[in-house]
Amino acid sequence: MIPAIALPSESSLKREFHFVPADHQAIARMVYDELGILLPDGKAQLVYGRVAPRVRACRLDSVGAYIKLIEQDADERLRMFDAITTNHTAFFREAHHFEDFVERLWPKLSQRVLGGGRVRLWSAACSSGEEPYSWLMASFGTDRGLAQRVLRADFKLLATDVSPSVLATARAGTYPAATLRTVPPALRSTWLSGPSERQTVDPMLRDAIAFRPLNLLGNWPMRGRFDAICCRNVMIYFDEPTKARLQARLADHLETGGMLYIGHSERLADEVAHRFESVGRTAYLKVAA
Ligand SMILES: C[S@@+](CC[C@H](N)C(=O)[O-])C[C@H]1O[C@@H](n2cnc3c(N)ncnc32)[C@H](O)[C@@H]1O
Repeated sequence: MIPAIALPSESSLKREFHFVPADHQAIARMVYDELGILLPDGKAQLVYGRVAPRVRACRLDSVGAYIKLIEQDADERLRMFDAITTNHTAFFREAHHFEDFVERLWPKLSQRVLGGGRVRLWSAACSSGEEPYSWLMASFGTDRGLAQRVLRADFKLLATDVSPSVLATARAGTYPAATLRTVPPALRSTWLSGPSERQTVDPMLRDAIAFRPLNLLGNWPMRGRFDAICCRNVMIYFDEPTKARLQARLADHLETGGMLYIGHSERLADEVAHRFESVGRTAYLKVAA
């Protein structure tokens, strides 16, 4: 018989800072109101783990004292939001979306932009940049000449996230070898340079991407519609009404005939599904305004 193993209960875990359920609930409320991210009681340990370094940095002795601080101090509140977000991403994550884009839209879009037209792409919730860089690498392949011609024309890739720290990593465009493992070798030798343990994305690609802070729940300053939007693996953190509102706004910002790509465990809300045709794995063609 396997002996029973006693697991420590949440309350018996030794913590550096005093942290009670009401602290978790106060932080969860602020995060939900600002970012739409749900943090149910089961996430208390995760919240503590992400907030504790901020409590220490502010030289406080409890999470309760930290909550009092962030109720007053807007800058520190932003640091808390930054610390709380989950930024997991990867180069060529769910690569079938980039393949779909390259086959379905890119022949038409590249022709349009090279013929003097305009092309706009949006990586919404881009985290540390792997998603928009993968998107460009997949589009240009190993053809640097094509990239040069397209990037001199009216082509823009907007990449946004609410977290300033991941945007700083994205803008720097320098990644360790472990992160670059999923970049296909031919693309790696075309678009990355530097010692193999830490390489930097070609400035031509880096400068082609406008990395900007943007809260998906807040105001969107962009005018004009996008030809394709990746909004992947962020809606999983939202409740159903937030997802439906966000998806309706994404649809409004997408050209008819444009593509919306969402994460593998995400689905379109019933309220917006009629505006799209499902054309592949979590790949949606906008068919109706
Ligand atoms: C798990 S990452 C996904 C990154 C990338 N899209 C991918 O699929 O690999 C989720 C990202 O969403 C961002 N995020 C969370 N809530 C947000 C919000 N309300 N507005 C904008 N970005 C948000 C986080 O900062 C994080 O970088």
